[in-house]
Amino acid sequence: MNEAYAGTNADTAIARAFHSATSIAMPRMGINPERVRMGTPDDIASPIWQEDWSIEPRPYKVYVDLAPLRLPREFPPTNMSALEALSRRGLDASATATPDLLALARLGRLSNGLLERSVTRRDGKPIEFRTAGGTGARYHLELYFVCGELVDLAAGVYHYATHDHALRQLRKGDFRGALVAATSDEPSISRAPVVLAITSTFWRNAWRYKARAYRHAFWDAGTSLANFLGVCASLDLAAKVVLGFADAEVNALLGVDGDREATLALCAVGRTDQAPPPLREVPRIDHTTQPLSSAEVIFADIPRMQAASELRNGAEAAAWRANPLRRRPVVEARLISLAPHESTQMTIEQVILARRSTRHYDTQQQVPFQAFSTVLDRSAGGFAADGLAADALPLHDNYLIVNGVEGIEPGVYLHHPRARAIELLKPGDFRAQARRLAFFQDYAADAHVNSYYLADLEGVLGRYGNRGYGLVQLESALFAGRLHLAAHAVGLRAVGSTSLDDEVVEFFSPRAAGSSYMFVTVFGLRRPRAAQQS
Ligand SMILES: Cc1cc2nc3c(=O)[nH]c(=O)nc-3n(C[C@H](O)[C@H](O)[C@H](O)COP(=O)(O)O)c2cc1C
Repeated sequence: MNEAYAGTNADTAIARAFHSATSIAMPRMGINPERVRMGTPDDIASPIWQEDWSIEPRPYKVYVDLAPLRLPREFPPTNMSALEALSRRGLDASATATPDLLALARLGRLSNGLLERSVTRRDGKPIEFRTAGGTGARYHLELYFVCGELVDLAAGVYHYATHDHALRQLRKGDFRGALVAATSDEPSISRAPVVLAITSTFWRNAWRYKARAYRHAFWDAGTSLANFLGVCASLDLAAKVVLGFADAEVNALLGVDGDREATLALCAVGRTDQAPPPLREVPRIDHTTQPLSSAEVIFADIPRMQAASELRNGAEAAAWRANPLRRRPVVEARLISLAPHESTQMTIEQVILARRSTRHYDTQQQVPFQAFSTVLDRSAGGFAADGLAADALPLHDNYLIVNGVEGIEPGVYLHHPRARAIELLKPGDFRAQARRLAFFQDYAADAHVNSYYLADLEGVLGRYGNRGYGLVQLESALFAGRLHLAAHAVGLRAVGSTSLDDEVVEFFSPRAAGSSYMFVTVFGLRRPRAAQQS
């Protein structure tokens, strides 16, 4: 049975208000991007800030006084297929390895590291792309590893620095006990040789996207964790995502203020029989970092939403994860079985390093049904997380606008992951609607499939309080991140998009009535270069 959540962040009016205030809409008749609005009719504003270029934040966190521990950039190939790595849940019994320095180097680089790919902007500054895509390339995530003694790395708390692919030691010694306390003995954390903490420095994204950056934090963290979990699987490392933790304790451990930079999620990496040493004192740390910019603008909805989502201690964390939401499966007779038989020679590291966002799709060709099936099926197996029951359905539903897949008629479909099938909701050509929903971006009309993630936000907030907001955004994004990678693995391409929140729900109704828009990724066959306009 699903019990209502009664913890400290149970007053979900804040999350609901945040969602409305950061929803994007457009006048029905308008196609002028200038007229796109964020918020509710009484309180509307432009969704884009990006006003003062003199305070554009730098996209890296750089500690100025700590010595870098440089990491290898090249790694021996793994031998698991990317599709297999993407379909692992994370706590598979076969995952028995323990991470070493090379594993941390690989995990850092392949989930928040640099690609050797940059473009020069009109103002001459570079955009240095990363191994995981992110909203508007406004990269704002940071990774930290809380490590016990590893074979080739001393116990400590380390920051993974993206700009120079190095670790910097923030604390010396084994501090995993602090995470055991902050999660009240969450089982995977209590037996993990390494725990990842992923944070957002909100301002780096909010400079362009204002308060919507708080949604993006969980979207981009989910996208990055899709890479991270895939790499863990390929290294036989157990992995479990943990969102139930006492925020202030974890933030203090990392030395971040919890306001301008806050922990979004933890991930236990590997398994050991030895419990970490008991909790020791956690002295305050305050290592100097380069300022992100000379001044910062606070978008008040971000700290409000973050504060309203926090758990105060380990006991609250334990209560938060105690009764995961179990949605009732909808039994539907008119299902079309998927045929997920595509295979790939590519490893997850090859897929991640080759991945790009693609905005040009070939409308002259159709995606083979087998490839379409494989992408959906292999990306929807779920992942181990506290607060999510292993045997439960995902928190979201995956609605599809199919524009060009062999053997099935164009139309709107719903993916039934358990039944490994899709259900036709509405036949028809919906390219024009797909384009509108995705902000009038042509690629959504051209792409063979638009994969929309919608969730019963009210139900999620009712069960998980305000903290459910980040959970459901991150969960959808992680599935979508896997879908993006699976598309690459079978020779297709993909890209995320922002969308017109309420119109998306309207479009997929009546089935989706009452849901909220979470995320979208479109995928398909890339248009040959010669046929591209740009
Ligand atoms: C959640 C999400 C939303 C995105 N929305 C858009 C979008 O609306 N339009 C677009 O052209 N690209 C969009 N992108 C793609 C990003 O711009 C892209 O990931 C980023 O520029 C980095 O490039 P890369 O993915 O090729 O590494 C989105 C990506 C993500 C993860």
